[in-house]
Amino acid sequence: MLKNKNIVLGVTGGIAVYKAVDVVSRLKKLNANIDVIMTDSASKFVTPLTFQSMSQNHVTVDMFKEPVNWDIEHISLAKKADIFLIVPATANVIGKVANGIADDMLTTTIMATKAKVIFAPAMNTQMYLNPIFKNNMKVLQELDYEFISPEEGRLACGDIGPGKLADPEYIVKYVIDHFNKKKDLEGKKVLITAGPTIEAFDPVRYISNHSSGKMGYSIAEEAKNRGANVTLISGPTKLLKPVGINIINVTSTEEMYEETIKYFKSTDILIKAAAPSDYKPISYNKNKIKKSEGSMHIELTRNPDILEKCGEIKDSQIIIGFAAETENIEEYAINKMENKNLDMIVANNIAEEGAGFKGDTNKVIIFNNSGKKKEYPLMSKKNLAKIILDNIK
Ligand code: PMT
Repeated sequence: MLKNKNIVLGVTGGIAVYKAVDVVSRLKKLNANIDVIMTDSASKFVTPLTFQSMSQNHVTVDMFKEPVNWDIEHISLAKKADIFLIVPATANVIGKVANGIADDMLTTTIMATKAKVIFAPAMNTQMYLNPIFKNNMKVLQELDYEFISPEEGRLACGDIGPGKLADPEYIVKYVIDHFNKKKDLEGKKVLITAGPTIEAFDPVRYISNHSSGKMGYSIAEEAKNRGANVTLISGPTKLLKPVGINIINVTSTEEMYEETIKYFKSTDILIKAAAPSDYKPISYNKNKIKKSEGSMHIELTRNPDILEKCGEIKDSQIIIGFAAETENIEEYAINKMENKNLDMIVANNIAEEGAGFKGDTNKVIIFNNSGKKKEYPLMSKKNLAKIILDNIK
């Protein structure tokens, strides 16, 4: 599948280095030609010999060591690369490249290449969330360098949060997709909603739900990669704002409604992955409600149903809804698709392990309005985003 493709793999020093060995093994099985460049610190975690055996190629570490071939190695590898992957990419290497520092074999080669450079970061959560790191990443994204987002989970240091290297299987899929790049949404306007909404009843308290925004953000990234002009209407989330996407931040369902209707008429495809609150408190107390003896009652009133409204006013738009259910999945999802005039609905059983809110994975059944049903196994939200967009096509 990757025959005749030259992949230069940069390996930098972090505990996730051992997963880069798996990446090389998988790429090799797909017949790619792999040249590995390790930083000095990477070679402290796993020896060059391991990568040499897996790639069946010479591994470069030291810039000043006598070269294997009589050409300038960092230039020849830079030219040879069809794609340049850095797995794992530390905050250090990303910071160096973002600031034009080329002081070892890897950074000089990255600097000299015209190939697409893709970083797969892996680091401690606080490092990943550090504004200096975020800024370096943004600088590179604006210069068209790509990033394979890390996952959330328990890290080697014991912290729990984002920073875990993306799954090697996903990294390899990303490479395959790069070579078979689908630009099937070129010129299309795609409107996506993501995340929860928040309905406050005093300056301190609100009702909301567990949506993290990951599902909607994954679809937005994938649509952008396929050439779409993407607008993402996002409820409050902790996710990094993706570059190259028009992001509209909202808080309440009412605000999400206003913004969605504003963009809907000129959109080609609407995908509603958000979890807007169906109800809001009937009134808002401008001061904090003081606690008192006994129970407290908050009266709720219905919020507008955004999807239903879009279904009513649609002309040529394709509308995809989600259904978050805990029982009678099929029946409820199909009812939603019919009642809201949708073209397709993605149903997730949020009671199932690994599906629905918060996590990096989901498990869905997709129904379309011509009666087709497709059931998918548990998979990452990023992979599912690809499948959802393939289904729209
Ligand atoms: O954000 P994550 O943590 O990644 O979680 C993903 C998810 C579980 C939020 C996502 O996969 C999902 O299921 N989104 C829909 C959640 C939801 O509100 O489901 P629902 O069955 O209540 O609503 C059906 C559809 O109507 C949804 O497309 C929803 O966006 C839309 N809706 C709901 C209420 C409302 N007032 N207006 C709407 O448009």
